[in-house]
Amino acid sequence: WHRMQPRRFLQSAPPRPSRRPEFAFAFDIDGVLVRSSDPLPRAQKALRYLQSQRIPFILLTNGGGKHESERVDDLSKKLEVPLDTSMFVQSHTPFADLDEYKNRTIMVVGGDEDKCRRVAERYGFKTVVTPGDILMAYPDVWPFSQQLLPYYKTFSRPLPAPIDPTSPSTSLKIDAIFVYNDPRDWGLDTQVIKDVLLSHKGIMGTLSHKNGDASRPNKGYQQDGQPPLYFSNPDLLWAAKYHLPRLGQGGFREALEGVWAALTGGSKAGVSLQKIVIGKPHQPTYEFAEKRLLAHRKQLLAQQAANLEPLKRVYMVGDNPESDILGGNSYKSPHGIDWISVLVGTGVHVAGTTPNHIPRMEVGDVWDAVQWAVEREE
Ligand code: G3P
Ligand code: MG
Repeated sequence: WHRMQPRRFLQSAPPRPSRRPEFAFAFDIDGVLVRSSDPLPRAQKALRYLQSQRIPFILLTNGGGKHESERVDDLSKKLEVPLDTSMFVQSHTPFADLDEYKNRTIMVVGGDEDKCRRVAERYGFKTVVTPGDILMAYPDVWPFSQQLLPYYKTFSRPLPAPIDPTSPSTSLKIDAIFVYNDPRDWGLDTQVIKDVLLSHKGIMGTLSHKNGDASRPNKGYQQDGQPPLYFSNPDLLWAAKYHLPRLGQGGFREALEGVWAALTGGSKAGVSLQKIVIGKPHQPTYEFAEKRLLAHRKQLLAQQAANLEPLKRVYMVGDNPESDILGGNSYKSPHGIDWISVLVGTGVHVAGTTPNHIPRMEVGDVWDAVQWAVEREE
């Protein structure tokens, strides 16, 4: 594949695009624009240039854990570039559209639990329970997090119903589980998710069983009315501040899958864990992002709306071959838009190594990516 030796392109701003941009950018965040809270050296230059040229872009991240408006404010301040939520998609943003669960009881797992609960409530979910709430109400549910009770006490809320297996009709029933962000307490979260998935119809404190015989666990797990399990981010690894990639939400999912297999026999016994995983590289997340990019572009170039050319190309700039490059390469646009994957060496991918998924172009950093794309659009 093309690996543009990270030669430094024109030091000055690249040539002004001659025609109305029929192209746009989608930037991954961690490992492309920032490393945790630190902006990467030429991220500001890249975004400011595009804004000066009125070339549309969105930020597309598998990160999350706070409301879009809060994350965008943080990034604007860190990068010193004006950003708004119309150009921002994070891991759990698509969950806001799941109206069928808004008036039911959901469990939100991961991140700063209180922040993630508040995000779900701002999305319109009326009854949100967290593993911390359950631990505070029933400390014995997970004996190994007692030392964390003071932390959970600061934000947990009373449960909407008790956990009372003797009275299933009034016991706490979970109708869907959403993992919003990287779990902090993998033990508690694994235990509580396991309790829900092996329960009878999502009723906490019960055990799924076949034909009413409670002594024989139901081998057809998740065929006894248990609730769906959603993950917002597949990333096994991601680029944080540490110089080596860190385990992400995908690491938690793999650990949970291991516990599930040990308990149920898992896929070998025909009982693989039923789950819905969104986030890059999956098609629904790219479709969601493309829709948001088209709307943002229309708004940005409103005064040229009359003769605005259809968007033809999106440069997907990322650091993780498993999410950004695989997603960019495999995405099938309903609008016939060509997503061109561009891999940078400032995050998970190590320059000079061969990535599992081959990008259309490899460059040094995000500014190189912008330079290369604008030059080829000329
Ligand atoms: O939790 C964030 C991590 O999974 C990666 O985020 O911005 O590189 O997609 P990003
Ligand atoms: Mg990244």
